[in-house]
Amino acid sequence: MTDTAALPSAPLPSASLPRPHSPALPLPLPHSPRRVAVFGAGYIGLVTGACFAELGHRVVVRDIQPERIDLLRSGDVPFFEPGLGDLILRNKERLSFTLDVHEAVRDAEVVYVCVDTPPTASGDADLSRVWAVVDALKDTASHLVAVVVKSTVPVGTGDRVRVALDEAGLHHVGYASNPEFTAEGSAVDDFLRPDRVVIGAFDEATARWVEGLYAGVDGPVETMDVASAEMVKLAANALLATKITFINEIATVCEATGADIEHVARAIGRDHRLGPYFLNAGLGYGGSCFPKDSRALRAMASNSGYPFQLLNAVIEVNELQPRRAIQRLKSELGGLRGRRVALLGLTFKPGTDDMREAPSAVIASRLLAEGAEVTCWDPMARPGPVQPWSSTTRHDTVDDAVSDADAAVLVTEWPELVDVDWPAAARRMRHPLFFDGRNLLESTAMLDAGFTYMSVGRATRHR
Ligand SMILES: NC(=O)c1ccc[n+]([C@@H]2O[C@H](COP(=O)([O-])OP(=O)(O)OC[C@H]3O[C@@H](n4cnc5c(N)ncnc54)[C@H](O)[C@@H]3O)[C@@H](O)[C@H]2O)c1
Repeated sequence: MTDTAALPSAPLPSASLPRPHSPALPLPLPHSPRRVAVFGAGYIGLVTGACFAELGHRVVVRDIQPERIDLLRSGDVPFFEPGLGDLILRNKERLSFTLDVHEAVRDAEVVYVCVDTPPTASGDADLSRVWAVVDALKDTASHLVAVVVKSTVPVGTGDRVRVALDEAGLHHVGYASNPEFTAEGSAVDDFLRPDRVVIGAFDEATARWVEGLYAGVDGPVETMDVASAEMVKLAANALLATKITFINEIATVCEATGADIEHVARAIGRDHRLGPYFLNAGLGYGGSCFPKDSRALRAMASNSGYPFQLLNAVIEVNELQPRRAIQRLKSELGGLRGRRVALLGLTFKPGTDDMREAPSAVIASRLLAEGAEVTCWDPMARPGPVQPWSSTTRHDTVDDAVSDADAAVLVTEWPELVDVDWPAAARRMRHPLFFDGRNLLESTAMLDAGFTYMSVGRATRHR
């Protein structure tokens, strides 16, 4: 490295630091191409690796799944994320893939930890994969400038990793928390044009070095202590989950009182203090982050003796939301046994093939438990041969999915659903009942198409 210079290494302000950590100086100056090893070739690791390559860095992505690495080496992407395939292709000179820890770390200056942190039975985050990476680094990382955790982890994880690195003789290797806020479906754009980049470090020099990796990214950088950075991620997701749940609660009150949630939400969203985002009433939030991270924050609070009551209510209401929809459908049809119900959209949101914690799974399971037959359509989802999907019938077109159905439930607001020939679809159904679980379609148009139209937060409109 030629561009080295002494950087001030003042400790960052912290409410909970065990002790400030100072990596050996001088550190290389930021704002130049770096050599980055990314651990985890999932949604976050691949987007991170490809975007860092796009920014000019040389990146090696390591995963433990041989088939995933084979696929990536052959130029394929193991899941659907808009723009990611093109980005990987465009940067193939600077991007490589490996199963081997040593190959990944050997020439790297920084290791990014982007492995999954799924929930355990207690709701706490399972950090076993993070620790597997930290353990693998103990013998391989002495030349690194920094280890950066991007995976979503409980507050205090950085402190523990710091201790582990110190105990392995890696005092000179910096540590940073750099949580990720990208949303699946727009992850590439979110990474390159973020609302903010959050960097938590034990010392100023590491924070500035990591910040340098983001040179060229169009967004503000917030630098802070490690614990606060870890908390930003959990708190931001909990607040988004709360906003969705709040509007779903208002929608339920609208249904009971005759107000229309669409008018209510639109007018609320005009208030600049509130903003229009995350005010769409629907079947509840899902995905790999909001359910997991709200439960992890609740568990973390409970573990420290504080019952996070608001979050308890948010989680409970969200779990009820798809069940309430089934209850309404059941009342409208006078029972579900023997009924055929078509589910339109299975992924937790449009623009992704991710089905983790998708409300569709609860809806399908409830329908099957009530004795209904379930057909489904989704343009991207590839559910494996697991329950409830192995008990449902998949169709490639909406027309086929709704044929002879007693009801259709729009679960995911895929834009192609707007363009379906709904009058023709209504004619194919045994009983043209439509439950718009995302309030995507225009109620009058659906009535004109021949449906009884149910939606969230609005009165049922009978044809
Ligand atoms: N998916 C999102 O939208 C999102 C957004 C923000 C933050 N996050 C967080 O980012 C982290 C990763 O999420 P994801 O959705 O990318 O998960 P993922 O399950 O899609 O990918 C994780 C990858 O890590 C690999 N892995 C596991 N152990 C490994 C090891 N020891 N070495 C190398 N690779 C290993 C797995 O094989 C898998 O390919 C999680 O903590 C998640 O909460 C996710």
